[in-house]
Amino acid sequence: MTSPQKKTIFSGIQPSGTLHIGNYLGAIKQWVRLAADNTGYFCIVDEHAITVPYEPKDMPERILNLAATYLAAGINPDQSIVFVQSHVAAHTELAWLLMTTTPFGELARMTQFKDKSKQLSKKNKAGLPAIASAESGATAGLFGYPVLMAADILLYQTRIVPVGEDQVQHIELARDIAQRFNNRFGEVFTIPEAKINNNTARIMSLSDPTKKMSKSDNTKSYIALTDSPDEIKIKIMSAVTETDPVFSFTKSGPAVKNLLTIYQAFSDEEPSAIEAKFNGKGYKEFKEALAQLVINQLSPLQQEYKKLRQSDDELRIMLGRGKHHAEQFANTTLRDVKEKMGLL
Ligand code: AMP
Ligand code: TRP
Repeated sequence: MTSPQKKTIFSGIQPSGTLHIGNYLGAIKQWVRLAADNTGYFCIVDEHAITVPYEPKDMPERILNLAATYLAAGINPDQSIVFVQSHVAAHTELAWLLMTTTPFGELARMTQFKDKSKQLSKKNKAGLPAIASAESGATAGLFGYPVLMAADILLYQTRIVPVGEDQVQHIELARDIAQRFNNRFGEVFTIPEAKINNNTARIMSLSDPTKKMSKSDNTKSYIALTDSPDEIKIKIMSAVTETDPVFSFTKSGPAVKNLLTIYQAFSDEEPSAIEAKFNGKGYKEFKEALAQLVINQLSPLQQEYKKLRQSDDELRIMLGRGKHHAEQFANTTLRDVKEKMGLL
């Protein structure tokens, strides 16, 4: 499937809840663009999702929902490889092998681990269920999470990893892991690069523009890809703004800048054209226009999603094909790694 001019792109999202427009604009929209003339691997990273407490009976549905979202957003499974991480055993196997070459101290520096383990220990103290010790709340799986992510990326000789800003530190680590392996055991891995879309790398919360938009926040702070037109309108109309209505990508406060960024990302219009359009207008008019834009842009995705969710079987067949393709490539890399490491 790989031709010399094509680059390999790899990315993934965890099936751990509703996707929001931050995920769409920060990650998936870039995937679709890049997948058009490269070889794309788009993974549903279920083994990452189980590193924090979760409900097993909800997981199959979440995996299928996420697969349908990838396709509805424009990933073409005849051109790209769409698959589930746990279907390709090479991911966890390579993760273990790489675990033995990764210093503990490098993992201890990962900010996502620090944030998530803090959140978990807070929940533990509040008496909510968690698997691990009440002391830390975090499992060894959560600690090793970035090594599994490195394995995901390195198995496919990936060049480009399109993600939002919060994942850049993990990709830096994957590069270090790959370089260290190549130096110690001989050249196996391509060194990957993170690709973030500067404009949309960090879409902020609608209720607090100092925090990134996140599904773990209150529902008014984010727009889910599955929100109805009414919900979208209510959320945008009640988004916080600064006191004076100034519509400028450089001079507006953080709340309005975030809304302008969302407008720009969905409309693909030039920032100066957007500034001119709303110059002298009030917030109500701007927000109404933004709400309508988001509703219109999400509508085809939502319709396609509904269609795809009518049949589990078709999605499962598509994922079966993805597994088959991914496995072939992944197993070749894994064999090479084991040989270089001296395993018989
Ligand atoms: P998550 O749902 O946190 O696993 O994120 C899935 C993908 O969406 C990753 O590439 C993230 O970097 C990206 N992402 C998550 N939240 C945002 C946000 N608020 N703005 C931009 N990208 C985001
Ligand atoms: N850790 C990523 C996130 O939370 C998801 C992920 C797992 C990923 N493996 C990956 C992203 C490999 C890019 C490449 O968003």
